[in-house]
Amino acid sequence: MKWALICGASGDIGQQIAVDLAAEGWSLYLHYHRATAKIMTLVEKLTQAHPKQDFIMFKQDMTDQGSAEQIASQIFTSLDAVIFAQGTTEYGLFRDLSPTKFDQMLAMQLQTPLRLIALLEDKLVQSEAGRIVFIGSVYGGNGSALEVGYSTLKGALSAFCSAYSKEVASTGLTVNVIAPGAVKTQMNMTFSAEEKAEVAETIPKGRFAVPKEISYFVKSLLPKEAGYLTGQTLYVTGGWLR
Ligand SMILES: NC(=O)c1ccc[n+]([C@@H]2O[C@H](COP(=O)([O-])OP(=O)(O)OC[C@H]3O[C@@H](n4cnc5c(N)ncnc54)[C@H](OP(=O)(O)O)[C@@H]3O)[C@@H](O)[C@H]2O)c1
Repeated sequence: MKWALICGASGDIGQQIAVDLAAEGWSLYLHYHRATAKIMTLVEKLTQAHPKQDFIMFKQDMTDQGSAEQIASQIFTSLDAVIFAQGTTEYGLFRDLSPTKFDQMLAMQLQTPLRLIALLEDKLVQSEAGRIVFIGSVYGGNGSALEVGYSTLKGALSAFCSAYSKEVASTGLTVNVIAPGAVKTQMNMTFSAEEKAEVAETIPKGRFAVPKEISYFVKSLLPKEAGYLTGQTLYVTGGWLR
């Protein structure tokens, strides 16, 4: 049985990744933060569709101290893949970003995932094809005004991936970032229809991605045959900003 941990499985991208991996026979640890109803519905749906696989949900605020240890303690089986699909942003001038908000983003997007990787490395290298995939952002490679903190942290994920992938390459564990452009998810719900249309006009493909178009590339990194690709940030942006 192949096992993956999806952090942020209650998000729109994370949920799609869960659905797509379950369809390929994976059993899943499904992390969420607040969206209990959404994750329960997901578990019910997956269990009905794939009764021979296991779907285990657990709640964790990844800004909490010790949250990496809490998450690691939930994993009681072998583990083949970890996918980080959690994340939020803060809009506004960097000078106005409060230290508390920045610390929270830092903890949730970077510190907790990296500590968790250190804790799970032994399990992942025992897999025939261990995989770590981060959902980064095009802003990690091409920074955005008004999302400076977010851009910085997404860029740091790509830097971590480049360095750490080399350290573990000989074990067979691969580490990559899928970096979307604009995706139609609840993360962008704060924008008006007009604002979203304006952004879409600047995307060569002429529209936002849907979560399945991001999940497709996550899924493609997991098979044994994908083992030669590591340390990379793949920009899935419809041609936008790269
Ligand atoms: N949408 C885009 O245009 C876009 C573009 C580029 C990159 N991304 C990246 O894609 C990833 C997924 O985003 P999405 O669009 O799917 O957004 P989303 O639907 O808003 O999902 C956000 C996820 O983050 C989790 N989360 C929020 N606060 C948390 C905390 N304190 N601790 C742990 N988990 C927390 C949420 O959990 P609950 O819902 O359970 O609270 C949810 O699972 C993020 O890393 C985002 O930066 C998105």
